[in-house]
Amino acid sequence: MVENLFEQNLLWAVLTAVLWGFAARGARCLAARRTARSLRRRARLGLVLLSVALLVLLLRVGLALALAGAAGWPAADDFVLFAAVPLTAAGAGAAALAVPAYLRLIRRTAPPGADTPAPAPAEAAVSAVPVGAGGGGGAVGSGGSVRAGGSLAPGGVPAAGPPAAVVPVLPPVSAEMRRVAADPRLVVPVRVCFATSVVAAALTLHPPAPSYTGPFLLELALLAVVAGALVLFQQRRRTDLAAPGWTPPSLARRLVRPTALLTAVALLSTGGCTLMWQESRLPAEVGHAAHHRHAHDTGGGPAAGAAPVRDLSGLTGPRSERPDRRFTLTATRRTLRLASGEQVAALAFNGSLPGPELRVTRGELVEVVLVNRDVREGVTVHWHGVDVPNAEDGVAGVTQDAVKPGGRHVYRFRPPRAGTYWYHSHQQSSAVVTRGLFGALVVEEPGARPEGLDRTVVAHAWPVLGGKGEAGGPHRGGGGALSGQNGAGGLLRTALGDDTRTRRVPVPAGTPVRLRLVNADNCPRTYSLAGTPFRVAAIDGNEVNAPTDLTGRRLRVAGGGRMDVTFRQPAGPVHLTIVGDANASGGGRGFEGCGEDGAYGTGRTETASLLLAPAGTTAKTPRPVTGPLFDPLDYGTPTTAPFGPGSRYDRDFHLVLGNSVGFFDGRPMMMWTINNAVYPDVPALLVKEGDSVRTSFVNRSLDDHPMHLHGHRMLVLSRDGVPATGSPWWTDTLNVAPGERYEVAFRADNPGLWMDHCHNLDHARDGMVLHLAYDGVTSPYEAGRSSGNLPE
Ligand code: C2O
Ligand code: CU
Repeated sequence: MVENLFEQNLLWAVLTAVLWGFAARGARCLAARRTARSLRRRARLGLVLLSVALLVLLLRVGLALALAGAAGWPAADDFVLFAAVPLTAAGAGAAALAVPAYLRLIRRTAPPGADTPAPAPAEAAVSAVPVGAGGGGGAVGSGGSVRAGGSLAPGGVPAAGPPAAVVPVLPPVSAEMRRVAADPRLVVPVRVCFATSVVAAALTLHPPAPSYTGPFLLELALLAVVAGALVLFQQRRRTDLAAPGWTPPSLARRLVRPTALLTAVALLSTGGCTLMWQESRLPAEVGHAAHHRHAHDTGGGPAAGAAPVRDLSGLTGPRSERPDRRFTLTATRRTLRLASGEQVAALAFNGSLPGPELRVTRGELVEVVLVNRDVREGVTVHWHGVDVPNAEDGVAGVTQDAVKPGGRHVYRFRPPRAGTYWYHSHQQSSAVVTRGLFGALVVEEPGARPEGLDRTVVAHAWPVLGGKGEAGGPHRGGGGALSGQNGAGGLLRTALGDDTRTRRVPVPAGTPVRLRLVNADNCPRTYSLAGTPFRVAAIDGNEVNAPTDLTGRRLRVAGGGRMDVTFRQPAGPVHLTIVGDANASGGGRGFEGCGEDGAYGTGRTETASLLLAPAGTTAKTPRPVTGPLFDPLDYGTPTTAPFGPGSRYDRDFHLVLGNSVGFFDGRPMMMWTINNAVYPDVPALLVKEGDSVRTSFVNRSLDDHPMHLHGHRMLVLSRDGVPATGSPWWTDTLNVAPGERYEVAFRADNPGLWMDHCHNLDHARDGMVLHLAYDGVTSPYEAGRSSGNLPE
């Protein structure tokens, strides 16, 4: 519903401008009509057009207000300020001045005795005047008739056709009538509405970043100047038109002004675009070393500067103790084969796709040595969802330098919570994660060896080589301006792990099963688990309190998100399939979008699946479920949580996720913005240790945004104004679908400089990134081209 309003808002922004363009042209050209009759007709038409334009303007204003009402003031305040307010003012002017002026004109142009219909012969005669009479065939002296094709009237052109037919011509437009038609009250308000709707449309497609006061006043001032200039111009024009001997200017003269205007507009917009393009180039270096240079959003809390300055490179895990568990992850570039046979030009950890699953125990000291053998892009390892100390977070240019070929880096941390997580490189992540630099990370409770079947199911769309007769399949990244560049390209095939086929797993009836679903892609994925009731035991590694049985529900997992499902194996088969997979086919449309329900893939069935069945069962494979989506908002049973309806917060942040037409890093595109800005211009969220923080997300763009906060987990308070009523819903990767509004809370208990970004890694690469900055914490690392650190 709300997402439709947002779409309509964009659409009508443009339509309003177009419509007012016609209305303005009509109003301006009225006075140059040649016959009273055509003037009258045009005046009526103009009035109709004006009324329609006014209605559409009202609709447009209504949309902005409806959005502010439905999605909250922060989600639409810019639309209200930059569009609704000036449009209302301009529209009121048009309604109050132009409409009466039109009515006056229509009354004045009424022929004497207009109440009686014109005699039929006159009608016929008039319609016989050739349209091609061009430069004023009808505007002839004061005579009531002219011999068509005969002698040339002043300013007239001989009409074609047989000579000697006497044609009556309607009275010409008198100077006085032209005066009325050129009334500034008629013309100017309509042209001002046009100018306003153009500016309003531009500011809807490319809204300025806060604060809005400056741009708002500038817009009003600009429009006031335009209005003033138009009044002066129109007064002069009226004087000209009302001069007795006025004749319509020649075609050439009439072309001069629009040509000049068009040229000026073209030059100006080229200049503007060049400027925007230049401006959008990312700085070669984005310094965190002095991140206080960057703007902060204080969320209503105290400004920066209260806490002592400290360098995040001191915020490591235990450095000297003996590790309990040790792994080495070696990154290499090579072509690898999936179990199902497809080849991938891969970047892989330890030569496996995905990387090896790491299983560790909560609280133990884990050491991972990262070795980069030959991945030119550079490598880091980020522990997605694990709240590690800041210096172990693995973000190039923020918490470390990217590891170059031949280099290594040691991570050490104690995972604080059991659950399902994953790891991936955070250097050029949009390009390298697709190709394989990721794996699953499972943290187990100490002393609780999983019984039964405990299996991690990592879903990923692999860019596979070669056609294999599937040349028509979905590709990615060929999409031109709207999609930006793409790291991998190629045909995408979704696999569970390394298999794009159905994998059969023998499971004795009665076995407790836990499937850990990891979505290692950009878009949300929808799963069907058919053949058994099941429970959602954990979300993003956080146990659900008292989960209940679900039957027939589909499960949607955010890009980068996880969900654990548990059940007891029945006597028949249980089938896990993917029923909605935007990753597989979204790119085929040239728009790296995820689609409304995370399933552009209508018509394309993913073949990867997992079939669990007792050996020798003959029961048929169950059909995929089609029930409603599982909703965590009211699932499970409430239990103690640090935040509730009565909580007070030290900081309150509002993040509006949007679209903006513009340039990003020198490329024209539909940008993914946070509060109308893109990285590195999105102000960092400033907190100090111990703060309780509330953040709202509103998605007014046309795609899903899985918002991922590093180093912290967020408690969902409400969605679309409806409070969460089930088990506390903790998440680190929250999918915010178009039109959705979430409120979340977290405790600032892990000091550092943290990424907070959309985990559609293409969106992140295109600017949908900000930081959570603890007061006083600085980073010695630099991001940007010259530093070699490109986290996204
Ligand atoms: Cu899994 Cu910053 O990402
Ligand atoms: Cu996004």
